[in-house]
Amino acid sequence: MTNRKYIVGNWKMNGMQAQLSDIAAIAEIAEQHGEIDVAICPPVTLIAAAATKCPQFAIGAQDCHQSSSGAHTGCVSAEMIREAGALLSILGHSERRADQYETDADVKAKAEAVKAAGLGAIICVGETEEERDDGRAVEVVCGQLEGSFPDEADADWLTIAYEPVWAIGTGRVPETSDVKEMHEAIRNKIGKLMGDGAEKVRILYGGSMNGGNAAELLSVPNVDGGLVGGSSLTADKFGPIIDAAA
Ligand code: G3P
Repeated sequence: MTNRKYIVGNWKMNGMQAQLSDIAAIAEIAEQHGEIDVAICPPVTLIAAAATKCPQFAIGAQDCHQSSSGAHTGCVSAEMIREAGALLSILGHSERRADQYETDADVKAKAEAVKAAGLGAIICVGETEEERDDGRAVEVVCGQLEGSFPDEADADWLTIAYEPVWAIGTGRVPETSDVKEMHEAIRNKIGKLMGDGAEKVRILYGGSMNGGNAAELLSVPNVDGGLVGGSSLTADKFGPIIDAAA
């Protein structure tokens, strides 16, 4: 079985109101490819405006808090991003695990909050270069997955993204054989964690995906799509990736 491909742009801390036109241009391309799913996760400041400007297009967040409200200065809840117009949230990106010290337990709690709010979640996992060089990549990634995995998983709302930390923003991508090995290991691990339905959970690859390498990466077994950073910021760069997935 082949899952419907899912291409998601993670804008990270990039994007002002002026870039809403880029989201609109990307949404137009996505509209021509009804056979795949496409989403953009802009900074939280653009979610409402992007969702209003592109009502047929999936807008997501890059994070949210695990609580629904309370004394958490600077944070936003899953309900808040939903009210703003988000349909999903990226969770546990390696930049947040490193910069905001997010743990697997935090990511799991956030995933459960996102599910409770009726949103989709993309849980990110990935090894550092040192861990790969030590031959521990699969062990590390499967460990993160186990710790971050929600108790009641379902492919309807849950997606996993494998993002090797050393491939993010570097222009380096793993060998196809390494992507294949890792995505197969993740698939097997999801099977152990949730049993039935594991084959339907989409597993995205992320890390220096671009218009030139997307077709090859997306053809690897168990690669159900891409989580794209730099090459998702404009329609001219993201369009070819969407085309490659379609
Ligand atoms: O979440 C997307 C990501 O970390 C990959 O970024 O810029 O290497 O495509 P980039």
